[in-house]
Amino acid sequence: MNTTLPPPEVDEAARLTAEILRLKREKNAVILAHYYQTPEIQSLADHIGDSLALAQAAERASAPIILFCGVHFMAETAKILNPGRKVLVPDMAAGCSLADSAPADLFRAFRAAHPHHVAVTYINCSAEVKAMSDIICTSSNAVRVVQSIPADRPVLFAPDKHLGAFVQRVTGRELLLWDGVCEVHVEISADKLKLLLGKHPQARLIAHPECPEHVLELAHHVGSTASLLRFVQEDPADTFIVATEAGILHNMRKAVPHKTLIAAPAHAENTCACSECPYMKLNTLEKVLAALRDERPEIVLDEDVRVRAHRALRRMLELG
Ligand code: 13P
Ligand code: SF4
Repeated sequence: MNTTLPPPEVDEAARLTAEILRLKREKNAVILAHYYQTPEIQSLADHIGDSLALAQAAERASAPIILFCGVHFMAETAKILNPGRKVLVPDMAAGCSLADSAPADLFRAFRAAHPHHVAVTYINCSAEVKAMSDIICTSSNAVRVVQSIPADRPVLFAPDKHLGAFVQRVTGRELLLWDGVCEVHVEISADKLKLLLGKHPQARLIAHPECPEHVLELAHHVGSTASLLRFVQEDPADTFIVATEAGILHNMRKAVPHKTLIAAPAHAENTCACSECPYMKLNTLEKVLAALRDERPEIVLDEDVRVRAHRALRRMLELG
């Protein structure tokens, strides 16, 4: 007879998971989780996706409670689309360096200084900034959104300068760029990637467009997290170097267990050699349980801001 007991933390995770699932049923809640969440949180979710897929899932939601496991701007997006539902987050402090780089007052001044520009704003921004924008985009559809704007109209793009520069290169359109970056993707080291590509000459390098140009120019494929996940399934290569937040590797390993997936190395010498978003990783099973049990923290929006932000978001969603 095998008398080996599971380590206590496994037991505790199983207990928390069971309690969360019980409360989820009891309260008829839906759980949405981004690919960058921990595997335990992803395993609880009704929908796992990238920013676009999660906004679309939020739009279709009919449950009275949406528990959003991601970062603050994503949960705000769910609330913009669902004013009549309660939108909860595990941790209100789960922010985003891109959203933080564009405070509403500075963005207002930027728009006022360029009144004839169409404002295309990456979904990684606050509801207030969305409310001052003409159309929102995500990393999945930024190229298509910019291409939808008549060629004779000047366009400003905020807040991610690297995604904006990527869109500029693909579309050939000149964009006025806001100076924001994702603090996780800018840490991915092109020098270390070159060494890794030298060691694995057959590997395909895949990268998120929040990475700087010197990383993207090494990549065989550039796309959103969902697009990177699709690529490893469809491309015949056996080995992939994945230049985005390491959380995506959980889903990728499930999708292609027979392939080798290598997390792209970050600059810092003594990191885990992969890239983790400190905001995404603030969410824990304990906090998910507390949010469902106490029905807070809850996202609350000023209705005027919500209505204006909804207009910009709808324009994106109508593009399909
Ligand atoms: P996507 O979900 O669009 O791939 O974006 C990644 C990201 O950084 C979310 O914060
Ligand atoms: Fe923001 Fe970057 Fe974290 Fe995404 S990975 S939430 S863009 S800081």
